[in-house]
Amino acid sequence: MSPTMIAPVMEEENKKYQRGVKHLCDNGLTKVPTKYILPEPDRPIFTKSDKLIKSKQNLKLPVIDFAELLGPNRPHVLQTIAEACETYGFFQVVNHGMEGDVSRNMIEVCKRFFELPYEERSKYMSTDMSAPVRYGTSFNQIKDNVFCWRDFLKLYAHPLPDYLPHWPSSPSDFRSLGARYAKETKEMFEMMVKAILESLEINDRDEAAEELEEGSQVVVVNCYPPCPEPELTLGMPPHSDYGFLTLLLQDDVEGLQILHREEWVTVDPIPGSFVVNVGDHLEIFSNGRYKSVLHRVLVNPTKPRISVASLHSFPLTSVVKPSPKLIDEQNVPKYMETDFATFLQYVSSREPKWKNFLESRKIHYVR
Ligand code: OGA
Ligand code: NI
Repeated sequence: MSPTMIAPVMEEENKKYQRGVKHLCDNGLTKVPTKYILPEPDRPIFTKSDKLIKSKQNLKLPVIDFAELLGPNRPHVLQTIAEACETYGFFQVVNHGMEGDVSRNMIEVCKRFFELPYEERSKYMSTDMSAPVRYGTSFNQIKDNVFCWRDFLKLYAHPLPDYLPHWPSSPSDFRSLGARYAKETKEMFEMMVKAILESLEINDRDEAAEELEEGSQVVVVNCYPPCPEPELTLGMPPHSDYGFLTLLLQDDVEGLQILHREEWVTVDPIPGSFVVNVGDHLEIFSNGRYKSVLHRVLVNPTKPRISVASLHSFPLTSVVKPSPKLIDEQNVPKYMETDFATFLQYVSSREPKWKNFLESRKIHYVR
């Protein structure tokens, strides 16, 4: 075919993938299309017989019991949080106060959203990174060369009254269940911020605490359909989260992996728990003490998976910098000041990969 013939064909092919993985799978699929096949070094490691090369490594993350955090054992729990944030960048939370119904209903209504006809879901499709509601596929569907096996719905959630009217009106109970979930997650985040600041020995009446209370919240619903050849692709490529903290609710299907001591390890889902992880902004704020750790998502051949990530940070207009309380002559700032506008510009201008945004904010001292 001459190059002039290839271009329209490719464009037509690309358009098909822009509609997302769910749409692709609904039409029946036995092989992963080339668009989703990662270069060999980036693939998850499976042997030819579809077994993991090493015995599969699952990781039990440190578990924080929220009820204990609020009791006489608080100092000990704070110590566990500090160690988890330093060593793993991740921990799990149980007894967090959110009723089982609230989280189960959220997962369930999100499932029903992704089961709606494509025409209904696609009403929320947008390439504008700052749209209050955005339905899409892959990681950055404009820039990604290889697509990942994921569709998503991104909802701005704070202040809720500003955004709720933009949220999907179908399924009819989406807004009410989603709003309850977003509100309760925000409360959980606020308790978590108090604990995190205390673990860094920063007073919780710190200016940062106030800013975080009025900060941004984005709820991202991830949908990973079953994949016929999971060894060739990923649900999400290795990335770190850009906010302060992410609170992740998973259904009972595993898939999340974190990079720990240079190995990918799978996080064991604990039913009803939340996985909490340090984002880039907390790494910067803690001047590098707490780590924003790379993570990725595996897909599997049989089970669809849904997760709901609630990303929390400072207000969109705030400047993020190492806390002045942690800086002195011995502890020089390791990161430049940064803001959301810079971040959004950064991610929309290139393929977001690894931790390159955070790397770009590091100060390299010449001795
Ligand atoms: C994310 C994320 C993990 C998952 O949304 O940033 O890392 O298990 N999600 O879906
Ligand atoms: Ni993430």
